[in-house]
Amino acid sequence: MRSLIVALAASAVAVRAYDNNAPYSKLPPMGWSSWVALGPGADHPVFDFCDEGSVRRAIDAFVSDDLGLYAAGYRHFHLDDCWANHERTPAGDLIPDTTNFPNGLTPVIDYAHSKGLAFGLYTSGGIFTCVGLRPGSEGHWSQDADSFASWGVDWVKMDWCNHGFEDPKTTYPLMSKALNASKRHIHFNMCEWGDENPWEWGDPIAQSWRMHGDHVGTWESTAKVIAASAAIPRQYSGRPYGWNDMDMLETGNGLRAAHANGKESNMTDDEWRTEFSMWAISASPLVVTTPIMNCTNESPHPANYCNVSLVQQESLSPCIEGYSFGCNLNGSMWTSEGCRGEFTCNGYSTLCDQDGSGQHLCECGNVTKCVPYITPLQREILLNTEVIAVNQDVTPQGAPVTPGDLSIWARNLTGGDIAVALYNPQAAAVNMTVSFAALGWTTGATVSVRDLWKHADMGYFKGSYGPVSVPTHATVMLRLTQHS
Ligand code: GLA
Repeated sequence: MRSLIVALAASAVAVRAYDNNAPYSKLPPMGWSSWVALGPGADHPVFDFCDEGSVRRAIDAFVSDDLGLYAAGYRHFHLDDCWANHERTPAGDLIPDTTNFPNGLTPVIDYAHSKGLAFGLYTSGGIFTCVGLRPGSEGHWSQDADSFASWGVDWVKMDWCNHGFEDPKTTYPLMSKALNASKRHIHFNMCEWGDENPWEWGDPIAQSWRMHGDHVGTWESTAKVIAASAAIPRQYSGRPYGWNDMDMLETGNGLRAAHANGKESNMTDDEWRTEFSMWAISASPLVVTTPIMNCTNESPHPANYCNVSLVQQESLSPCIEGYSFGCNLNGSMWTSEGCRGEFTCNGYSTLCDQDGSGQHLCECGNVTKCVPYITPLQREILLNTEVIAVNQDVTPQGAPVTPGDLSIWARNLTGGDIAVALYNPQAAAVNMTVSFAALGWTTGATVSVRDLWKHADMGYFKGSYGPVSVPTHATVMLRLTQHS
């Protein structure tokens, strides 16, 4: 009997201990995804597009002090369905789009790492990805996992499009095994849209799993995902290196994100605050998808004229006119032999700085200048470090205090505080009162209450806090501390 108990305990540990040390994954990952956000030049966002330039510029914006995402703790940079070449190599290798990433992905991944970010990449568990029929990983588990590892990828999202009739419970472990065998500490994010209750079987094979279909920036979608989170049985409430993923945050997106899933984001300010509050208290990964830069292109070049000069060399290899750089008569210039730098081409400042072997073409004057940008509302919400602190904990995710009643949610925090969300999905304002006994505290306890959207201490209370009038679709986010 005793040995049976020991064996059971050992197997329980093995099942519950999928800490593979993937970067920034112990707590719910915080980051940014390209899904609704990138595009060529100044014309972004363009559905399903990414290239070396736009990725580099997005990395720069992500980490810029102007934006403040990095300072607030966001560390993951994710390239969604946009990067893979339509054809594998003759040897069957998955490679980045040869036009948009002529130097492969390694330079941009290295660049992200040099800025202190973890780099995430997308694939599908079927034969094609969801958009644009790029190759999926089906039947290439080890080959793709080894490629991801050799490029330096830190997070792999595996989608579930075009898989035929396979069972995700059988397929996802194949990629998980292959990623582990690669020996790189890669976070595996399963994206089978919650179809097969992944919280029941994802824990031993992945670090996070989508618990619902795609979230889009409409109230209907947001309320559905929140209700689905409430319905997850408490024994599957997430743990370090194993989180229920409510999908990307669409915070503050409007027309700029209309292309993703064919839905225009259109929520009110209160609804966006609700999205962030409920993702936070549910310990979901907080992955922002929004354009984070405003870009402009410099004016076009004059035709049939060509004159190029070096302004500043950026490469170790020398830039020698006529040998390693020069100009073409169609308004473009070239570099080769490892020469990279800043040039004046036809009178326009031109960055021609692509790495890699062979000759690189750059358009004269086609320099995209980007400034980091998010709206004031996005700033208020996404950089609310008090709400972020509710999310960034090792404790199980929050849930409704009374099962079946979605209005009052609680999450126990490390150190004894309790985060409380007063969530109002109704079409009219509702008065809510949170009882301290319902949170597990004694009725005589003195509790101080801080409002995390008002950034204000509300005072000391006994027995309960409220009634608080919560406007329609709003969420009052509180942090409670017991004093006696
Ligand atoms: C699916 C996923 C989304 C996104 C797209 C990309 O819909 O659920 O999150 O990755 O595919 O095509």
